[in-house]
Amino acid sequence: MFIDSHCHINFPDLAANIEPLLANMAENKVTHALCVAVNLPELPSVLALAEAHANIFASVGVHPDYEDTPEPSVEQLVELAKHPRVVAIGETGLDYYRLQGDLEWQRERFRVHIRAAKQVGLPLIIHTRSSAADTIRILKEEGADEVGGVLHCFTETWEVAQAAMELGFYISISGIVTFKKAVELQAVARLVPLDRLLIETDSPYLAPVPYRGKQNQPAWVRHVGESIADLRGISVNQIADATTANFFKLFARAQK
Ligand code: NI
Repeated sequence: MFIDSHCHINFPDLAANIEPLLANMAENKVTHALCVAVNLPELPSVLALAEAHANIFASVGVHPDYEDTPEPSVEQLVELAKHPRVVAIGETGLDYYRLQGDLEWQRERFRVHIRAAKQVGLPLIIHTRSSAADTIRILKEEGADEVGGVLHCFTETWEVAQAAMELGFYISISGIVTFKKAVELQAVARLVPLDRLLIETDSPYLAPVPYRGKQNQPAWVRHVGESIADLRGISVNQIADATTANFFKLFARAQK
């Protein structure tokens, strides 16, 4: 069985087809999915899915790419994270690729999430793009190793993966690993210790081969798992078992 550790199935195009989407998960032995929040106004749709479906979990957070959106406080995140279906804080982090200029507000928002995660004892879901050095620096400065978490949709170097793992973080590989040109990510996918590895779709984005370019869905995390198994020359079951065990270890509040 597989688990999609990161998806956005509350986005309208996916939420509108939730029943077939869940059926496809079952058909592909994808037992659970973590629906990750990107801002506060849309949080109710994330929580509603997790309340309605025992195999969907939720997170609370404000994504660094959302500039004109209500800014969360530590207290607010702590309060929202009390919801019993919430298993993580995020996604949060830094993105110097999509947004430019003075991004001090992003770094401050990131710090707020880490402080909230430490208060509630939940792991962090980290987005980092063209900002790895600052991401690792802030994780260290804020003592994020106390709660750990995951670098989601990993596209950084092996050195960055090592720095994150030293802080107790997991590395989550998306469908990008199935793209022919993603040679560096494929190298990382071979090297990450099995007990540090997670898999995800980041649906509706980044559909893996053979669905590249289509609207992604959690069922297709299977292809991510198969691709990593191929790269490592081990069985798909080994990848499935390891990533499933890692999911429940990291997101300890998630009940099977
Ligand atoms: Ni995401």
